[in-house]
Amino acid sequence: MAGRDYFWCRCGRSQQQPFCDGSHKGTGLAPLKFHADVSETLYFCGCKHSHSPPLCDGTHNQLQD
Ligand code: FES
Repeated sequence: MAGRDYFWCRCGRSQQQPFCDGSHKGTGLAPLKFHADVSETLYFCGCKHSHSPPLCDGTHNQLQD
């Protein structure tokens, strides 16, 4: 939604993926803020390996099990 800030979970511990729920406390990591300038459909990274965080860049397709 335009004008809204989103906080992408960088640590992987959040129960509200892909967004931060505060579970990073004590990890030394912090969420990455994303400000939406316009209202549009975007895909936030869920695998935490994107080279363009917080958004998906397709890297998950190259991950091995
Ligand atoms: S819960 Fe993961 S960065 Fe906040």
